[in-house]
Amino acid sequence: MDDLAAMPSVTFLLPDGRSVEVAVSAGTTVLQAARAADIPIEGACGGAMACATCHVHVEEAQFDRLDEPSDEEDDMLDLAQSLAPTSRLGCQIRLDDRIGRLIVRVPRTTLLAD
Ligand code: FES
Repeated sequence: MDDLAAMPSVTFLLPDGRSVEVAVSAGTTVLQAARAADIPIEGACGGAMACATCHVHVEEAQFDRLDEPSDEEDDMLDLAQSLAPTSRLGCQIRLDDRIGRLIVRVPRTTLLAD
């Protein structure tokens, strides 16, 4: 149980007001965490940084704790819908102990349609 409490986690704030927290192993990406929790983030390219359909908004207070996005990620984010100052690609954020409990808001445009 203590091990679980120490694991990194992602809390997804969904457009319908729900919040879903998922504990993950270090090294897991936000996109992989979403898939593990059945959150229908599109992620069309499977994490190859070629689509921007895994776009999320990181909580402002946590944004600066993440590594800087690469130039390639910035270029891809330019194509994302619902862009915000704390936008990142979910497939490019890797959870680790330093990040700990990450909170991301999922724009409606990132979710697969029902
Ligand atoms: Fe395509 Fe992240 S899944 S850019």
